Amino acid sequence: MMHTTVGIVGGGPAGLLLARLLHNAGIDSVVLELRDRAYVEQRQRAGILEQATVEALRAAGAGERMDAEGIPHHGIELRFGRRSHRLDFPSLTGGRSVMVYAQTEVVKDLIALQLADGGPLLFGAEVTSVEGAQSDSPVVEFVQEGRAQTLTCDYVVGCDGFHGVTRDAVPEDVRTTYERTHPYSWLGVLAEAPPVYDELVYAHSDRGFALASMRSPTVSRLYLQVPNGTDPADWSAERIWDELDTRLALDRDPGWKLERGPVTSKAVLPMRSHVTEPMRYGRVFLAGDAAHIVPPTGAKGLNLAAADVIVLARALARWRETGSAELLDAYSDTCLRRVWRAEHFSSFMTATLHTDPAQSPFDTRLQLSQLERIATSPHAAAELAENYTGLPLPR
Ligand code: FAD
Ligand code: DHB
Repeated sequence: MMHTTVGIVGGGPAGLLLARLLHNAGIDSVVLELRDRAYVEQRQRAGILEQATVEALRAAGAGERMDAEGIPHHGIELRFGRRSHRLDFPSLTGGRSVMVYAQTEVVKDLIALQLADGGPLLFGAEVTSVEGAQSDSPVVEFVQEGRAQTLTCDYVVGCDGFHGVTRDAVPEDVRTTYERTHPYSWLGVLAEAPPVYDELVYAHSDRGFALASMRSPTVSRLYLQVPNGTDPADWSAERIWDELDTRLALDRDPGWKLERGPVTSKAVLPMRSHVTEPMRYGRVFLAGDAAHIVPPTGAKGLNLAAADVIVLARALARWRETGSAELLDAYSDTCLRRVWRAEHFSSFMTATLHTDPAQSPFDTRLQLSQLERIATSPHAAAELAENYTGLPLPR
């Protein structure tokens, strides 16, 4: 039997950043992570950090490698109707930008810090239940190396992602689930090829959506809209590159082709929109994907997870310093305002850029009209840019 102030279920970006913020505030925690360290560090996911996430990582002491190796981006390119339009973030948002720095690297940096001087971070620790949310000392049951163990806590935070178990600590009659599935998936590809362009390209085409992102000057991260249920084995490297050439084509440069290189990984990512409310029940809190999922088109998932734990760490620090639970009581409402904004933006980006299999030519014209509006109206462009670079965190 162990005891800690804050039991953190899940060592993804939400759990790891929370542990670091609590450590810096002098609050002890234990992180329980199902998978092993190598798996968590290699899991390919998001790549874009909002300015508020970048600042939070720096403030948490996890910014050194990000500042050396991350790539600041001051805009994105939209392609539609075989034309390109650049959105310049600083001029549209009063100086805001984003950083390309992969989730894998954020996680590696946070793990290294936690293992160096933080509280316990246990890998291969499967949490099986969280009980006693309404008591003064909720209990986390977990199994590590075949041995059942118990962690009692002052507070428990479920950072265990969409498939985690902590959400079940909130009784069904207390929680409300809002959900939407999407009629397409993404094929996510890593390739040893230089980035297509020096900024990200989001493309609407009559063959569906494509996104060209990057991981480094020599590694591209590419996404193609594919039907739900697609088998990645059906997508050879040649087919992937041919399809990207077609979806990213521009009238002004008809002979243009992507620079090809070996495809080193490919996976199909289903899309989901999901929110569980409230994000707090008694002494149990939910943060990140455990509470909400967005479709990835707006690059919001990781940033929302970071925003949740920043708000929660401040609330726990206030409770520790003053005994006041005021900010803890406000946690769910504070986070849900940002969550719903991101849900809306992510749905908007997804619906505007993808081709729904049931889409009519009328719907396509509406999408193109919306994209034209963004390309020609500073107001419409600013709306996209403000959401993409991220709203400021609540003070
Ligand atoms: P997670 O990263 O899911 O971490 C949860 C952790 O909890 C995991 O390490 C898991 O192993 C652990 N865990 C689960 N159950 C238990 C248990 N019972 N006991 C102990 N530990 C447990 N966002 C973007 O912006 N762009 C993208 O391109 C993008 N691609 C994505 C691709 C995929 C396949 C997925 C699933 C998500 C993607 N996202 C993307 C979203 C983004 O990666 C997530 O929003 C982000 O990882 C959320 O962080 P988190 O810490 O809340 O959850
Ligand atoms: C990446 C993923 C996204 O979902 C996105 O909108 C932009 C970039 C990426 O993995 O690089």
